[in-house]
Amino acid sequence: MWSRKERYRRLEDATEEEMAALAKKVQTSPWRQAFHIQPPTGLLNDPNGLAYYNGEYHVFYQWFPLGPVHGLKYWQHVKSTDLIQWEEAGPALAPTHDHDSHGVYSGSAIEKDGQLVLMYTGNKRDQAWTRYPSQCIAVMDEEGTVIKRDTPVIPGPPPGYTDHFRDPKVWKEDGLYYAVIGAQREDQTGTVLLYKSKDLLEWELVGDIATSYPSFGFMWECPDYFEEGGRGVLVFSPQGLSAKSDAYCNIYQSGYVIGERLNKKEAKLKHGPFQELDRGFDFYAPQTMMDGDGRRLLIGWMGLPEIAYPTDGFGWAHCLTIPREVKVRGEKLIQQPARELEQLRRNYVQMQGNVEGQTKFEPLHGTVFEMIVRIESLSAAVFSVALRANEREKTMLIYEAHTKKLTLDRSTSGEAFAEEYGTKRSCIIGDLNELRVFVDHSSIEVFVNGGEEVFTARIFPDTDGDHIYFDTQGGSADLTIHKWDLS
Ligand code: FRU
Repeated sequence: MWSRKERYRRLEDATEEEMAALAKKVQTSPWRQAFHIQPPTGLLNDPNGLAYYNGEYHVFYQWFPLGPVHGLKYWQHVKSTDLIQWEEAGPALAPTHDHDSHGVYSGSAIEKDGQLVLMYTGNKRDQAWTRYPSQCIAVMDEEGTVIKRDTPVIPGPPPGYTDHFRDPKVWKEDGLYYAVIGAQREDQTGTVLLYKSKDLLEWELVGDIATSYPSFGFMWECPDYFEEGGRGVLVFSPQGLSAKSDAYCNIYQSGYVIGERLNKKEAKLKHGPFQELDRGFDFYAPQTMMDGDGRRLLIGWMGLPEIAYPTDGFGWAHCLTIPREVKVRGEKLIQQPARELEQLRRNYVQMQGNVEGQTKFEPLHGTVFEMIVRIESLSAAVFSVALRANEREKTMLIYEAHTKKLTLDRSTSGEAFAEEYGTKRSCIIGDLNELRVFVDHSSIEVFVNGGEEVFTARIFPDTDGDHIYFDTQGGSADLTIHKWDLS
């Protein structure tokens, strides 16, 4: 077990031999990913500081380098020109100051005067383990050199709020900077606070954003806010919701509300219902960014807090999702894989056929692949797809025509984990037209009907589980299938 002392060790406290041994252990893991951002060692959690800056995509992530636990957090930095090849740039922010002595927590990035300003939460604890959060900034120049400011720009939560005060997401509008910050009111309800600033240094509280969810969980982590086509979208990760039928089944949730543009003078948001961003098992703390082409991209943590994962025994945990392009359509966000992922495609196979009962199309198999299944017509009562299958295991997507419900079933996917939260996730999707699936060594991301819903899950199958097959009950399905290996 990890003692507090071990969790709060710093990177420089580890010897070269210790790090080499850990890296070696990580390399023996059968579940290292092929096309996802993952930590070299230790634990990754939230994506931070997403930015398109100086001609490159920059992604930072919450990182505890020394093992697969939530310990002393750093911001690890990776960058890319194409969203698919990621170069490790080393830790950008380390816990070097008194005010961030217990972790450089989540935050965001914004370009100002040719530099990338990083705004993050300094997490400090005292002897009695009382937490003191503050909001801090650092600047990164074109060479990638990062300089932290010596004192926080927001020293602590305002009166009426607890020490759960973190994860600033900053943006600029009409010459002013705004930040949304996750918070907990003294009555133990979660919310988002809106701040404003002229220069990113002096911040003024505008208010507690008034939403139609005054009591919706005990803490809202990792808020994000953006506008598209005159609509406002507030993204957040509420903790403490109880499962309701197919909704809110994970330990914590991530979703959004869409409505009118945020009233930035009075901190008021008129909006529709909270909608989950992902219907799968492993998705949390997403962040969005606008890139050079004006695309809104979203990346999430493909993991959840407080859950042990099968990679822990190999000295590492978690990865980020593939980047998704998000668009507002009506009252919903539509999410699609960033088009750059098409560059990973190899060995194209196309099939057309009618499925009645269990059907295997011989050339279709794979462990790391993208597959698009178009359902041209469906008379069956139940249609299913099995992936990463062998004689013992399979990961299933099951569609029931009468309920119009799609289920991701990982009960026989491989090494089990988090089973106390169930092994199936379902969502009513309407008619099933298309499944677009991205499978990596230990994950599956399913984009349904052109991105109307997404199901994301870690799975830990045998390395030889490469069968793909289809099945129907009570009728048949006409399919067109496109499949590529990804590398
Ligand atoms: C969400 C979170 C954030 C916090 C960070 C610490 O997963 O708890 O609220 O800043 O992780 O690693």
